[in-house]
Amino acid sequence: MTTNNWNTQLYDQKHAFVFQHGKGVVELLEPKVGERILDLGSGTGHLTKAIADAGTTVIGLDSAASMVAAASKDYPEIEFVLGDAVNFAFAEPFDAVFSNATLHWVLQADKAAAYIAQALKPSGRFVAEFGGLHNMHYVTTAVHAAISDQTGLDVRHRWYFPSIADYSAVLARAGLELRSAWLFERLTPLEGEDGMRNWIKMFGGGLFNGVPEDRLESIVTQTEQTLRVTNYKDGQWFADYWRIRVIAVKSGS
Ligand code: BEZ
Repeated sequence: MTTNNWNTQLYDQKHAFVFQHGKGVVELLEPKVGERILDLGSGTGHLTKAIADAGTTVIGLDSAASMVAAASKDYPEIEFVLGDAVNFAFAEPFDAVFSNATLHWVLQADKAAAYIAQALKPSGRFVAEFGGLHNMHYVTTAVHAAISDQTGLDVRHRWYFPSIADYSAVLARAGLELRSAWLFERLTPLEGEDGMRNWIKMFGGGLFNGVPEDRLESIVTQTEQTLRVTNYKDGQWFADYWRIRVIAVKSGS
């Protein structure tokens, strides 16, 4: 379970909802012909391609080499680069920065916002969706309890799930003026009887920092048992996702 060596096939096959839901964020972006756009956290590149199809010049940036390789293979006509949300630079500024399902991985939210602002032209826009306040509350609580029961360790997750108030302050400090924001629940069906287990294995590395490898399987099993009460209904697993969506504009121009 790691955050930078993704299994891109498992990601696409079992977790396609990540980019399926992202299509709504592309609609919010309203990409226009001739615009220059940065896709921050471009993953397997499907949304980058949707943005390119609107007639834009888009660059995908991702911190995972496996994602950059998979996206470049599927969409050789698009430029994908390896880079970090808190340390990137491009020679030319962008009309818009787009980001889907990425910024909850970036704990240095102020630093990321500063880089986003720096990458934008005057009046350029930032359109993003990621995990917001309450995101995966049942899952993170169940994993925390199982780790504590089985190891005595107090392991806190390392994701960033802000409220609208907190994130609008982050944006303001970076010189990005909030224009619209939403925080909403999106109960997300997970595929198959092992859906929750697969989600934890795919994404949950950050929940287990410092937990001995040989305890992981039984911790996941206990977690699954706990979550049957809240996240399993009529033979279907659900991730208790909460999303924050924002549209902001580079201010002072
Ligand atoms: C999310 O999309 O909310 C998410 C994905 C992976 C880890 C944590 C949250």
